[in-house]
Amino acid sequence: MELIPQTGVGKKVCIVGASGKLGRYMVKHALDRGYEVVGVCREKSVHKLAEYADRITVHGAFTDDRAVIERAVAGCDAVLTVLVPWGVHDYASGTAKAVMDFAKPDARLIFSCGWHITRDGGDRYKRGIRAAVAFAKFMKITRLVDIADQYRATDAIFSSDTRWTVVRGSDLEEGPSEGLPVWSRHVGDPVLESNLTRRTDFALFMVAAIEDDSLIGEAPAINGRLTPSAIAHAEGAV
Ligand SMILES: NC(=O)c1ccc[n+]([C@@H]2O[C@H](COP(=O)([O-])OP(=O)(O)OC[C@H]3O[C@@H](n4cnc5c(N)ncnc54)[C@H](OP(=O)(O)O)[C@@H]3O)[C@@H](O)[C@H]2O)c1
Repeated sequence: MELIPQTGVGKKVCIVGASGKLGRYMVKHALDRGYEVVGVCREKSVHKLAEYADRITVHGAFTDDRAVIERAVAGCDAVLTVLVPWGVHDYASGTAKAVMDFAKPDARLIFSCGWHITRDGGDRYKRGIRAAVAFAKFMKITRLVDIADQYRATDAIFSSDTRWTVVRGSDLEEGPSEGLPVWSRHVGDPVLESNLTRRTDFALFMVAAIEDDSLIGEAPAINGRLTPSAIAHAEGAV
């Protein structure tokens, strides 16, 4: 059986958006590493965390509820936040702002988003991603999503003086872990070419980032470590 390093013993982490697919993987990885876990998710989704009910504290509320976030992040050494652009009422930026306003100043803050977010404009996107973003922008008309809100959220994070990391996920798939994803600063870098990460490993990267100070102030774009481009890069690097 794999021995998981108990890096989280004696530490508390809050997972904002804990009931989603990524969130539940993060809960599992954090518990496996010995962290005390506090979760925030919509009231109607609390039941999705039933398997962890006796091991975590859950706050049922929208993640941009400032009073709830203030209570949930109190005393936490790290906050892992799933940024999602739902609705047209600044859900992602409201969530990010609440986390940054109420987390301890020295807390590690790790946020999830996709490759479409760019920190410095140095990313080179293929047509498929550009088309997906254009479609997502168009979808604001439905009032269901506002992708610009996710950009506003990450811009606020990038310009903050918190101990942040913004993890940019590639396309995702389900399946057993392949280990910690590889990462690079810019989409378009050869190591990222395969554009596919297991969702459980996205979550693993988020949790591992808590203990990796070299990721503070970085916006790593990730890719599965067993994808062809990651393997080719590793072989070329030997
Ligand atoms: N899906 C992809 O292919 C992909 C690719 C790259 C990066 N990412 C990033 O990965 C992260 C997780 O995304 P995911 O797509 O994999 O889904 P996910 O993990 O299931 O997360 C979706 C989140 O959105 C919440 N949500 C759903 N409908 C909502 C609504 N109407 N109002 C408010 N909250 C709502 C969910 O909460 P409930 O549990 O309450 O429904 C859940 O917390 C995001 O940061 C995303 O940008 C995703």
